[in-house]
Amino acid sequence: MLTITEEKGNRVDAVANTKAHFIWIKGDPTPTICREDERVLYALERDGRAGPKAVRVGCRQGGCGACRVRIVSGGFETGKMSRAHVTKEEQDQGYVLSCRLYPRSDLVLVPAFAGPRRATKTR
Ligand code: FES
Repeated sequence: MLTITEEKGNRVDAVANTKAHFIWIKGDPTPTICREDERVLYALERDGRAGPKAVRVGCRQGGCGACRVRIVSGGFETGKMSRAHVTKEEQDQGYVLSCRLYPRSDLVLVPAFAGPRRATKTR
């Protein structure tokens, strides 16, 4: 966990007194810093780490599944996610939509876009 007073180089742009964590894409040696009140996808985009060859960007609202990732380690919370893109079973295995993902500790994740799926209900 980081706070603004534990600045690492010039990469921290967190608001003072806001907790932040390192987000590691497995295999990438450089982490992204994400505040606890920030969606992981937005932090990855800000850092240039989102895109077709990494964590994909789509609707940014939990409905398209483009930003799907699997959490390898770390604590987190999520907002509403479409069950068409992350089933309950998949969620139990660590799959989440990064546009609905808030870190509660440092995270290690892998991109896990599963292709187009048919939208149904949200949790
Ligand atoms: S960008 Fe569409 S579900 Fe996250």
